[in-house]
Amino acid sequence: MIRRYDFGIPFPTEAVVLDLTPNPEPLPHFTKKGTKLNLFLKLERDTVVYGLGESNRGLNKRGYLYESFCSDTSTHTPDIFSMYGAHNFLLISGKNTFGVFIDCPEKITFDIGYSDYDDLKISGESTDYTIYIIEEDNLRSIIRSFRTLIGESYIPPKWGFGYQQSRWGYSKESEFYDIADQYQNLDIPLESIYMDIDYMEAYKDFTVDPSRFPNFKTMVSDLRSRGIRLVPIIDAGVKIEEGYSVYEEGVEHGYFCEDETGKPFVAAVWPGRVHFPDFINPAARKWFGEKYKILTDCGIDGFWNDMNEPAIFYSEEGLEETFSYLDSIRDTNIGIKESFGMREAIENLSNNPKDYDRFYHNHNGERIVHRKLHNLYGYMMTRAASEGLHSIQEDKRFLLFSRASYIGMHRYGGIWTGDNSSWWEHLLLNIKMMPSLNMCGFLYSGADLGGFGCDTTYDLMIRWLQFGLFTPLMRNHSAISTREQELYQFSSTGYFSKLLKFRYRLLPYLYSEFIKAVKCHDMFFLPLSFEYEHDSLSRSVEDQLLIGESLMSAPVYTQNAAGRYVYLPESMLMVKFDSRLERTCEILEKGHHFIELSLEEFVLFIKRNKFLMLAPEANNTDSLDCTSFEIIGYSDQTDVLSYDFYDDDGISSKVDLSTMLQVQISKKDSVWKLSNQIPQIKITKIDIMEASVY
Ligand code: GLC
Repeated sequence: MIRRYDFGIPFPTEAVVLDLTPNPEPLPHFTKKGTKLNLFLKLERDTVVYGLGESNRGLNKRGYLYESFCSDTSTHTPDIFSMYGAHNFLLISGKNTFGVFIDCPEKITFDIGYSDYDDLKISGESTDYTIYIIEEDNLRSIIRSFRTLIGESYIPPKWGFGYQQSRWGYSKESEFYDIADQYQNLDIPLESIYMDIDYMEAYKDFTVDPSRFPNFKTMVSDLRSRGIRLVPIIDAGVKIEEGYSVYEEGVEHGYFCEDETGKPFVAAVWPGRVHFPDFINPAARKWFGEKYKILTDCGIDGFWNDMNEPAIFYSEEGLEETFSYLDSIRDTNIGIKESFGMREAIENLSNNPKDYDRFYHNHNGERIVHRKLHNLYGYMMTRAASEGLHSIQEDKRFLLFSRASYIGMHRYGGIWTGDNSSWWEHLLLNIKMMPSLNMCGFLYSGADLGGFGCDTTYDLMIRWLQFGLFTPLMRNHSAISTREQELYQFSSTGYFSKLLKFRYRLLPYLYSEFIKAVKCHDMFFLPLSFEYEHDSLSRSVEDQLLIGESLMSAPVYTQNAAGRYVYLPESMLMVKFDSRLERTCEILEKGHHFIELSLEEFVLFIKRNKFLMLAPEANNTDSLDCTSFEIIGYSDQTDVLSYDFYDDDGISSKVDLSTMLQVQISKKDSVWKLSNQIPQIKITKIDIMEASVY
């Protein structure tokens, strides 16, 4: 059951798709004070609070403070409060179990047992918001209800599940050919190469620098014929430059956000001074979205939208304040106060919340200060892109993901989790964040594998890829001037080749589970506690994830580990892969186990009475055979096992679960065989372990 409560005059964020009538009764569960957002709830000691999508710390949010305020936060240390996304959904699991979604585009603070361990406080300046309360029988049903409320998640093309290589700094044609050659000469799978800001001419959106990319279209098609796609970045800020058509059209039609005087607001990002398209204005959205055609006409079919919190390096006003402060102390004896003051003045230049009070949006003729709609900006940019791409080719799925987001954007694109670092802690953060993102509708997601900032190491790269094998977006991305981390930069390329070929073996299962999760409003990554709700130990497991209906992943995420402890809420089949990706299987009982795993080894678990379909190895989705499978599984006193397998052409926008195939195997005379004939697929081998070993 979902109930809606309106306060003030909420802005139509279009986060939800169900049109519910506001409930006139008082808001249940919470004590609410005043007209501003101010909710209070007493927590029991063992209440677990899930949610908040892209946010810091654990799966259980208890014990810290979080802010929903889309921020260009480049260092994800444990003390930060906000990240790039604003996902205002909590799932409270205690004596009273329910979900709450606060649909409000302004900044919100979630104090989840931070000021007082037993109190939950949700507060903000806004007086205009909608609150949805979701109550169902169990955690997973609450998520399904919530996801029905917010609508179906974005589905990428199947190639978006391939292995993708990215780095900030690739800046000329020969580099892209070189990356392709290096991967292909070493027989390491590669699906796409990303084009970061350096492909543009002076960082101008929808341009390609002709001096560094003289034959761009030919390069796109050459690489495409080798199975590789190119994915360019698009930034939110539009460079101010006479003669640049995007800038001139934007000014002419009034498509940019305005300052107090009604002139286009000036801020600075990569190109220096820019204007921000007013993505709140539908006409500006349409205009910007159609610009993607400049690149799709060159053969591009995937994009990533960036800097759309929006990130601001400085505003004119900020510069003025900083320089005047520096001038004021220039001739003084610069002491402690001034030294700190100087540092602060420089630091405050970028992403200063004061700047969000300095520009305005046009919402059907009404002027609204940006601060009040801040968390919608990245959402509406990605919506612009998605609608634009749809108008370019309606029947095709494009790859699209964004850095900033708000619930609602999950219908238009995925997200990546921004500028992490090459730290083991961020591998763990990646693991913990995935289910939280899924709760909020963001299914197509992943982190920068290997880490974006800082220098990665060989062992971190390996362990991160061993987890990345399961994330829908599997992209290796790093920052300019850090250690190069394309997989051919390391010595054991043979292992990477094997590991990534295994990703393609898994891909049909991942794709099938992903589409089922989208269509059934379910989760792809599930915390153990969602499946084993009555198993109290499962509630505290945050470093193992269920993936779809058959699998559990238990990645190693610490340096120099000889293995890891795993908790099994029921008996499962452990499948251990060695450095040659050869496997050994063993049924393990419910309980705690230490699994030895040297650096090039990893495990996955198959649940009781489930199986996994593995395709043959492949180097990209073009050559992936989704019709021939090996089956591995675990039967516990049953002679019949089945799996609903979904597949399609991976590209057309029509995705229909009714074409799902039920793959059923059964045991006769101690031999497992496919029991129903399915013309579309061939089963080459069946390897089922049985519990009777105990
Ligand atoms: C931002 C993005 C990062 C990108 C860089 C340069 O920091 O988060 O992924 O590489 O900008 O475009």
